[in-house]
This record gives sequence, structure tokens and C-alpha cells, in this order.
Amino acid sequence: MTEKPSRRQVLIWMGNLGLLGAAWATLKGSVRFFDPPVAQPAVSAVEAGAADDFPVGARTFIPAAKAWLIRDEDGFSAMSAVCPHLGCTLGEDGAAFACPCHGSRFDAAGAVTHGPAIANMRHLAVEVADGRVIIHPEMS
Ligand code: FES
Repeated sequence: MTEKPSRRQVLIWMGNLGLLGAAWATLKGSVRFFDPPVAQPAVSAVEAGAADDFPVGARTFIPAAKAWLIRDEDGFSAMSAVCPHLGCTLGEDGAAFACPCHGSRFDAAGAVTHGPAIANMRHLAVEVADGRVIIHPEMS
């Protein structure tokens, strides 16, 4: 016959489970901080699509180029979505950009506005050939 655990023992076990959960969450966050998901090396040229598919004012993430393609009144431009801090992929933050890993922020032109990143987003070469938009991730 097994002895029924006391209320005190059950509370201690629950407390220990909570501590283990908190320790696991802390450890997981620490690993992500020191080993963020780094973007893969980009290819030399990525066709983003037909120029007509990007209206003036469009800002589109192009996964194959790991870049943000922007079209304004002056034409096309692109900026690398690879965070200059440790390489996480930058996402949109209103009209600006933000890094989900350590909180760096960049303005709409790619200038760093909040660290830990100290460098701006990298501007990439873009061309339109035969009505197709081509991004050159390795050329600035
Ligand atoms: S990878 Fe650290 S802030 Fe972006």
C-alpha cells in the first residue's frame, strides 16, 4: 500500500515544476541570444517579379534575396533584411524595420535608430530588365 503524498509535498512538487519551467525558458532564451538564427548566404541575383506587380509605395519582403524591395516615385531600391548585428531577419515595424532577436531598430531608409546594431541596413543593387525586377544581394 502506497502512502498518499501530503498536501505539503504536492505543493513542493508543483513549486519545483514551476522552477524547472522558468529555468527552461531562461535557458532557451539565452541560447537564442548567443546563437541567433543566422541568415544563409545570399545568391548573386534574384528575380523579384514583374515590375508592374510592385506599385509605387510598395515595400515587399523577397525571401530568396533576404531583402526588402521598395518602390517609390524614383523607382526601385532594396535593402538587406539581414540584421547587421548578428544576422537575424529584419521585419517591418510600421514604416521602419525591427530585429526580433535583440531589438535593434532601423528607420525607413535603413539607418540604425536603436542598438545593439551599430551599422545601418545594407543597400543592395536593383535593376529592371525586360520588365522584371532583379535584386543583386551581393552588390551594394
Ligand atoms: S541580430 Fe541582434 S539585434 Fe538583430
